[in-house]
Amino acid sequence: MATAVTEEILLDRIKSGRLVEDSAHATERYIEGLKRTLIVSADTELISAPAYMNATKDFSTLPSVDNYITVMGIVQDELGHAHIAYRMLRDLGVDTDELVYERRPEKFKYPYAFDVPLENFTELVVANGFYDRAGFVLLSDIHQNCSYGPWKRALVKVDREENFHLRHGEKWMKVFSKDPEK
Ligand SMILES: [Fe+2]
Ligand SMILES: [Fe+2]
Repeated sequence: MATAVTEEILLDRIKSGRLVEDSAHATERYIEGLKRTLIVSADTELISAPAYMNATKDFSTLPSVDNYITVMGIVQDELGHAHIAYRMLRDLGVDTDELVYERRPEKFKYPYAFDVPLENFTELVVANGFYDRAGFVLLSDIHQNCSYGPWKRALVKVDREENFHLRHGEKWMKVFSKDPEK
């Protein structure tokens, strides 16, 4: 029978730079904290997809069809990020079908900003510039310091894509700020 992991064994593992690869390496407290953090991340990624899509409803605010394609790429990235986080939760024994399909809307855990509708392309690029920057800073910190191996590795791809989103926001904010009429 495997020895139960105590806080002390877990701390020794983390201090020696070895990653936690599954629940057998961790305490219940660690796994509960990890699940809570992953749910916030998964929900935020998921909710950002319809929020960004909503901003393309008024086609007349898009400079060209290329911008529409770029936004759809960003939406697809965000759904991929949500999928990664929910899949890790499933691997930890969470019923993710219940989480995604059965939960009441007010139970989702995401920042208030996504309750404010983004209604045109300009608002979308400002969101890309600020929300994706915030996401990038938070996730980069997790990528660099997180002791949970599966998440640390998954964030290589997520960070790269978030960087693309925030650069998209910054680029178009610069373009629009040069011409107040736009
Ligand atoms: Fe994302
Ligand atoms: Fe993003």
